[in-house]
Amino acid sequence: MITFDDVTVRFDSFTALPGFSLQVEEGEFFTLLGPSGCGKSTALRALAGFVDLSAGDIHVAGRKITHLPSGKREVGMVFQNYALFPGMNVRENIAFGLRVQKLSRAETDRRVNEIAERVDLSQQQLGKQVSELSGGQQQRVAIARALVLHPKVLLLDEPLSNLDAKLRRQLRGQLKQLQGQFGITTVYVTHDQDEALSMSDRIAVLDQGRIEQVGTPQEVYDRSATEFVCTFVGEVNRLSPALVGTFATAGASGLDSGATTYVRIEKVKVIRPGAAHSGIAVPATVDSHTYHGMHNVYHLRTEHDRLRAVATVHGGWQPRDGERVDLVFDPDSLLQYSGGPAVPAVQDVASAAGATR
Ligand SMILES: Nc1ncnc2c1ncn2[C@@H]1O[C@H](COP(=O)(O)OP(=O)(O)OP(=O)(O)O)[C@@H](O)[C@H]1O
Ligand SMILES: [Mg+2]
Repeated sequence: MITFDDVTVRFDSFTALPGFSLQVEEGEFFTLLGPSGCGKSTALRALAGFVDLSAGDIHVAGRKITHLPSGKREVGMVFQNYALFPGMNVRENIAFGLRVQKLSRAETDRRVNEIAERVDLSQQQLGKQVSELSGGQQQRVAIARALVLHPKVLLLDEPLSNLDAKLRRQLRGQLKQLQGQFGITTVYVTHDQDEALSMSDRIAVLDQGRIEQVGTPQEVYDRSATEFVCTFVGEVNRLSPALVGTFATAGASGLDSGATTYVRIEKVKVIRPGAAHSGIAVPATVDSHTYHGMHNVYHLRTEHDRLRAVATVHGGWQPRDGERVDLVFDPDSLLQYSGGPAVPAVQDVASAAGATR
């Protein structure tokens, strides 16, 4: 549906996207995830026609759009700050693109009413000034303004980032629902990994203009292809070579003792010393813990490492600070990297990961 074919974008001597290649499937909710400055907005703006390519091509629905002006690309874009026109009311904002296309007044009204109903904006709200709307309502106006033009693709650049945390979580669901209803191919940009994991069909993780991994949320999280993805998405403990050596001694096969090794903090289990488990147990002491409502985060010390682990508050037994515990590791959950691409810890994980890449 959307293809970036070796796209390079330069700003003077700075290369924001060096040879960027990507495919987004029809109807997909696809997310570009990465830290500030990694080139997410640049990729989106290249697709929308707001920045020129230095090399490469972009296709949408089989049509090469590389040199088409923005208005002819059939791409709708919602910006971080919504970029609504402050001097116009809601109806005029949504109708703007249709006016530019010189549609008749009757047809314009019909299309605006239709889209307003679908994104749940009332007739009364259509008459308001945009400054009279809440952040969430303004966001729906921005989406309606994009969708009223019946684009083939919807581009959303951090559309939730200037809302408060609770509203942001609420609107994630609404946005995803709207996307499903319209079935429109969507490219979503965010630096928020939780947003990316919970909303996307697939995610591309970017670092410095380069794609580190493309995959489903589960693939990106559980089988992070590179050390960058592993540490950017979710929270990890980095394990010392000594601890990795202990696992090998305890019978874990396929571990590379020379590789950089991580484990996600919720994959480390805290149990009473000597309690039954399936995995590899390592004695530890609880240094401290922090309470987060639904879970505790434990800061622990083993012979060689300082680690964090998560346990739900409703899980029954809770160790106290200073208490001796066992930490249980599942060798399958270890993520290993030796300079190049991922070396999954265990043979069968290696073949499973290889099959999806
Ligand atoms: N018009 C421009 N002129 C010069 N440099 C630019 C321009 N637009 C972006 N850049 C640079 O390109 C790089 C990528 O910028 P971009 O806006 O795509 O990042 P981003 O991933 O969207 O970041 P953020 O999460 O902060 O929005 C940055 O280093 C930025 O400074
Ligand atoms: Mg940006």
